[in-house]
Amino acid sequence: MADRGIVAVFGSMNMDLSVACERIPRAGETVGGSGFITNAGGKGANQAVAAARMGACTHMIGAVGRDAFGASLVVGLQDAGVDCDFVVHRDDVETGTATIVRCEGDNRIILSPGANYALAGADVACALRRLVAHELDGDASEIAPAAGSVFIAQGECDLAATADALVCAHELGFYTVFNPAPACELPAEVWPAVDLVCPNETECQVLTGILPTDDASCVAALKALLAKGAGAAVITLGGSGSVTLGDDGGLLRMPALSSEVVDTTAAGDTFIGALAAARLQGLPLFECMVAGARASAVTVSRLGAQQSIPTRAEVERKFGLDGLDGEAE
Ligand code: RIB
Repeated sequence: MADRGIVAVFGSMNMDLSVACERIPRAGETVGGSGFITNAGGKGANQAVAAARMGACTHMIGAVGRDAFGASLVVGLQDAGVDCDFVVHRDDVETGTATIVRCEGDNRIILSPGANYALAGADVACALRRLVAHELDGDASEIAPAAGSVFIAQGECDLAATADALVCAHELGFYTVFNPAPACELPAEVWPAVDLVCPNETECQVLTGILPTDDASCVAALKALLAKGAGAAVITLGGSGSVTLGDDGGLLRMPALSSEVVDTTAAGDTFIGALAAARLQGLPLFECMVAGARASAVTVSRLGAQQSIPTRAEVERKFGLDGLDGEAE
């Protein structure tokens, strides 16, 4: 199926400083680390890379400092096929960084947002309107010029800007995806502008007070997310896959696909970017979750953030063109 629009991502761009250790040091203690890497990350940028590598026409809206990290992040995004015309270079603030500790099959992150807080809602709205005017003019309807396109936002930028951006994108007709990571709440009046909310289990607990552990708590949590006003909800559960509600209100679960776990960094971002690219092709939500699961299974088998995100061809080589489970090789 041919894509009908674009994926526009408003979000963070970070340089990730990542190191592995066998256990987390206690206060005042030093432990040995290994495998230090500096690599491009940031939830927004990772999601944009995932969407682009799945073949979606993808635009990044964000900000970096006018420094070496910022320049490198923009080049990395462009190499991945992401348009960066709406990435602002700021003189007054440094590029965002994430200090990541990889330990016991999971990661812990200290975020220094820097330029990620530089854009206001009006800046994002201006970028979205220009995107709609320039990119989508051909098949635009006057009421919803971005219909068929996808907008993604997360929780690593200024929350007021994120809320305004979601409202603007929804008004323009984008299918809006909100990934509340790290956990953050939206003003009540903004939730109806969210077509799909996609938290992980801990973010879900912050938003709903329910930790989704078994089928019953997953259903309760999904219903609580919908009760806020979102059009649909998907919860990602790490090794337990992802869940949503079917049309009959019953639980639909997409299991995580088997993969050797090397580094979980950017796995959730890959899920969202690949889901958005599938949505652009007009696929139903559960099939978009399948696309997310397939792509993120490849990401966890590799080290780092953007450097670990696969292309569509790599996903198809591992899982076949259509298969939901198992390896093709
Ligand atoms: O989701 C992973 C990302 O979170 C990392 O790339 C890091 O930059 C943090 O923002």
